[in-house]
Amino acid sequence: MIRTPVSISIMRATGLLAALALALAPRIVFAEVRSPFSPASPQATAIANLFWLIVAIAVIIFIGVGGTIIYATVAYRQRPGRTAAQFSGNLPIEVAWTTIPFILLVVIFYLTIRTMVDLQVPTFRASSGDPVEITVAGHQWWWQFDYPAERITTANEFHVPVGEPVILHLTSDNVLHSFWIPEMNGKLDLIPGHDRTLWFTPAQTGVFLGQCAEFCGIQHAWMQIRLIVQTPAEYAAWVREQQRTPPIPTGLAAQGQQIFMQQTCPSCHTIAGTPANGTAGPNLTHVASRATIGAGVLPNTPQNMERWLRNPQDVKPGNLMPNSKLTEEQVRALTAYMESLR
Ligand code: CUA
Repeated sequence: MIRTPVSISIMRATGLLAALALALAPRIVFAEVRSPFSPASPQATAIANLFWLIVAIAVIIFIGVGGTIIYATVAYRQRPGRTAAQFSGNLPIEVAWTTIPFILLVVIFYLTIRTMVDLQVPTFRASSGDPVEITVAGHQWWWQFDYPAERITTANEFHVPVGEPVILHLTSDNVLHSFWIPEMNGKLDLIPGHDRTLWFTPAQTGVFLGQCAEFCGIQHAWMQIRLIVQTPAEYAAWVREQQRTPPIPTGLAAQGQQIFMQQTCPSCHTIAGTPANGTAGPNLTHVASRATIGAGVLPNTPQNMERWLRNPQDVKPGNLMPNSKLTEEQVRALTAYMESLR
C-alpha cells in the first residue's frame, strides 16, 4: 500500500476512533437494550397499541396524500397545447379535507384519553389481594426503593412478583427526575413535595431496565433502574433475604467493618445490625446482592468496588460521595466487608 499523506491521516483517524471505541467499550456493553416496543405489562401494551394505531393512521394518510400528489404531478403535467384549468372554490373537496382530519383528531383524542384512563392507578379492593407498594425517591444520582410493609430499603434495583399489581409512590427531595421502565409503563416525573403514583402489573419474569428520563444534573445518564420480576416464591425468598441482618463479619471483613465505623461512612449509609444509620447515601445492608455500583456505572465486582472506594469521584464525577483518600489496605478491607453484605 502506498502511504500518501491522505492515507496516513485516514489511518490515524481510524486508530483514534478504535482507541476511543475501546475506551468506551465497557460502558457501551453494559448499556443493555430497553424498548417500549417489547411491552411486558398490560400498561406498556396499551401504550404500544396506541402508538402503533397512530402510526398506522399516519402511514395511510401519508400514502394517500403522497400518492395523490405523485398521480396529479404525472397525469396533469404540462403538455404541448394543454393549458391548466383555472377555477376557484370546490365545496365538496373543502368540506372533505376539513371533515376527515377533524374526525381523525377526534378519534385519536378519544383513544388517547381512554388509554390514559386505563393507566390510572385503580382502587384496589381488599378482596383482590394487596398490591406491592413501593416508595421511590429520586436522588442525585441514584434511586431509593422503600418497601414499607416489608420493611426493606434498597437502591437502584428492586424486585417484584410476576402477575401482581405494583404501585410506586414517586417522590424527590432535590430536583425533578423521571421514572421510566419502558417495558412496564410510561414516564412519570418525580416532583419535590408531591406523591405521584405509577403502577404496572408485570406479565413476565426477567430483568427490565429503566432510566431517569429528565435531565437532573451531571450524572443524569448514570441514574439507571434495574427491575427484577420473579415468581412469587422467588420474590418471597428475596424479601426474606433482604429482611435478614447480615452476619457478623470475620477476618479481613471484620477489619473493614471497623474502618467503616471509624470513617464518616455511617453518617451517610445504613447497615442493619450496626450503628450505621445514615440516609444520605444508599442503604448498604445487602449491597453485595446488587448487580451494579453507582446506579449502573460499574458492574458490582470486588475489583470495581475497590475502584469505587479508591475515588468515587473518578468513577462518577460530581456524585455526593467524597474521596476519603483511603490506603490500599483500607480499600481491600472495606471491599471485603462490602462483599460480606449479601
Ligand atoms: Cu434523575 Cu435524570
